Amino acid sequence: MKVAVLGSGGREHAIVWKLSQSQRIKELFCLPGNPGIKQLAKCVPLPLHDHQSLIHWAKKEAISLTVVGPEDPLSNGIVDSFLAAGLQIYGPNQKAAQLESSKTFAKQIMKIYGVPTAKSASFTELGPALRYVKENGAPIVIKADGLAAGKGVTVATSVVEAETSLRASLEKNRFGKAGSTVLIEEFLDGEEMTILSFVSGPDYLTMVPSQDHKPVFDGDQGPNTGGMGAYSPVPHLEKWLSEIEKMIVDPMVKGLQKENIYFQGILYTGLMITKEGPKVVEFNVRFGDPEAQVILPRLQNDLLEILEASTGGNLSSIKLKWKQDACVCVIMASGGYPVEYKTGFPISGLKPGVDDLVFHAGTEIFGTKLVTNGGRVLNVSSLGGSLAQARTQVYERLQSIHFENLHYRTDIASKAL
Ligand SMILES: Nc1ncnc2c1ncn2[C@@H]1O[C@H](COP(=O)(O)OP(=O)(O)O)[C@@H](O)[C@H]1O
Ligand SMILES: [Mg+2]
Repeated sequence: MKVAVLGSGGREHAIVWKLSQSQRIKELFCLPGNPGIKQLAKCVPLPLHDHQSLIHWAKKEAISLTVVGPEDPLSNGIVDSFLAAGLQIYGPNQKAAQLESSKTFAKQIMKIYGVPTAKSASFTELGPALRYVKENGAPIVIKADGLAAGKGVTVATSVVEAETSLRASLEKNRFGKAGSTVLIEEFLDGEEMTILSFVSGPDYLTMVPSQDHKPVFDGDQGPNTGGMGAYSPVPHLEKWLSEIEKMIVDPMVKGLQKENIYFQGILYTGLMITKEGPKVVEFNVRFGDPEAQVILPRLQNDLLEILEASTGGNLSSIKLKWKQDACVCVIMASGGYPVEYKTGFPISGLKPGVDDLVFHAGTEIFGTKLVTNGGRVLNVSSLGGSLAQARTQVYERLQSIHFENLHYRTDIASKAL
């Protein structure tokens, strides 16, 4: 069969890499893809916001299944468009994607079904929002309600910082429509963890846990990024897994059913493990980036079979199988990211064909050279017999990859070690 993946980052490279091992795929495409993905799939430069062009292309190529990587097309209703055109697609429809595209919507569902999360209130007016912050004090968390490419959250350590963030959203329109509603949330103290689940209506399969590293510098210092590295498993938080499934994933899946929201795709549960137990930080509706880059290398099943069982309403026939190996991924970023950085620097030291788990995130071909083209440039993953071993291997591999002004964290996975 012919399969297409939508997206162009490290997550999509990992999805394409995993799907490329499926015996049943005759031809693999990625739209628009990137230079790393190009080694495994045919890249087609179509814009993801133009649903009609994508549908036209998928019909012309007789694509059997399209897999959506990022959140934007999902929240724009790409799944609804494909289904209406009679095409199979993996991912939640627009209504279900609101779990990610509106943090207020997600909070409402959590509230109805008693899912533990930070106390919060939503605001569209500056005055009441400022009053709420004054009453509650800092630390406090300010969140743009909608999709803001990972830049919409301020963990404010002072009331002044919270006020500045509220003004940026509600007065200066910093995030446009995505920030015209703001969620103000109780600060949760603890350690973060990600749980991904394949969900298909009433059925779900929970994957092995992983942990992302949001802040740009070692020791969780500096501004938040899209993610500077991840690892799986997360042994020191493992004891919480059954409670997370019972208190969070299960009630969410059942709750969505009760609300008549058909969820078919990946439910990403972002958690804070607090002194009072696990609480939801947010939901996403697709694979995490960089979580996919450590989860998919550990997955033993044919990913295509899982995705097909999911779109076919047959997910309960699947049993997930995992490698015992641990996986660690370190993001090689452009120095200055996530604030200001330069791109266009040549990248050296890659070994295409040998470097199985070096995923491209922000690269492009300029002339004949591979150059940097984004904040997060490469995602270097490694599988090892233990987390310590995987970590050593990853940092060894990084030593021989170069581009000007590169930056990476040196402490990925250290919380577990
Ligand atoms: N209530 C909270 N308490 C403490 N930290 C938080 C809280 N909410 C979010 N954060 C931090 O901010 C990051 C981004 O928040 P999140 O809700 O995941 O938004 P997004 O991923 O859409 O930017 C989280 O990964 C976490 O590090
Ligand atoms: Mg998040």
